Amino acid sequence: MNLSRRRFIHTTALAAGGIAVSSPGYAAMSEGLSAPEAARPLFVATWPFGQPANERSLEVFAGSGSLLDAVEEGIKVPEADPDNASVGLGGIPNADGAVQLDACIMDGEGQRAGSVAALEGILHPISVARRVMDDTKHVMLAGEGARQFALAQGFASVDLLTDQRRGEWEQWREKQHQPDNHDTIALVGLDADGRLAGGCSTSGWGYKLPGRVGDSPIIGSGLYVDAQVGAAGATGLGENVMRYCASFLIVEYMRQGLHPEDACLETIRRIAAADPRPAEDLAINFVALDKQGRYGAAGTGQGFEYAVAYPGYSEVLQSTGVSNADIGPEGGNRR
Ligand code: GLY
Repeated sequence: MNLSRRRFIHTTALAAGGIAVSSPGYAAMSEGLSAPEAARPLFVATWPFGQPANERSLEVFAGSGSLLDAVEEGIKVPEADPDNASVGLGGIPNADGAVQLDACIMDGEGQRAGSVAALEGILHPISVARRVMDDTKHVMLAGEGARQFALAQGFASVDLLTDQRRGEWEQWREKQHQPDNHDTIALVGLDADGRLAGGCSTSGWGYKLPGRVGDSPIIGSGLYVDAQVGAAGATGLGENVMRYCASFLIVEYMRQGLHPEDACLETIRRIAAADPRPAEDLAINFVALDKQGRYGAAGTGQGFEYAVAYPGYSEVLQSTGVSNADIGPEGGNRR
């Protein structure tokens, strides 16, 4: 595994009141990334589109002081972006041409969680998940029940299928090619009081079977937060995440003392060692941060890009990657 591939792709210095400068560059590898002790809140999110989400989270936290509000509002950024094919409005539909959304939110404080699965026609599934957490006795609502709950809560009914995605879906119906989109946003945060929270939102596997639910709304799979330890979130092929409760596993590795990046790596190795397919084909990626403000990520193959932000700083980084060569003989998953 080539740890030196960790690369700073976009570095954005945030001045009070706005983004000041953007300077791509490279940084020497450290033993493990961590934010300065005073650098709170700290947000870590999947993919480059996690960067504007993180920056919105910083803004919202500065105004409200609420980590949950910050997580929710950050995730609403890609949900509202019609050009993002993997999250919310403009997401790739299922095989029937319906955009079905999965999302969850989790508060380390009190181990609270809310989740929606296969939700149609609502712009912000993360906000519906928050309402499930805050206003019901349940953790998860699915399908039409989730939609009726959202409407009863005052969420507007919207058409999430953009003209572009409709056109692509019509072409797909002719050719049945499978797009490779599992670019979920998972965003986890830590504040100065040591409070942890996270959220996750996706339109899931493009042209999936109607009713298919991925890892993203499953607590412990697409997202997990433990108030005493840290938080982790996933992006990639949900079927290869949810069979292993991967985010929970990452948090448990952090509980044992692993740096978040190592916890992500160890989880991928363990999954890859158990799975008959080559690691490169699993298409799974994780972000994590711990209560000390250490953070990291790892993905299969070449890894993936993820975003980190705290006051005065916002970056997109290249994660470490795990290939089959890193798994070792006999499926052994130890370094
Ligand atoms: N990770 C998103 C999904 O597979 O649905």
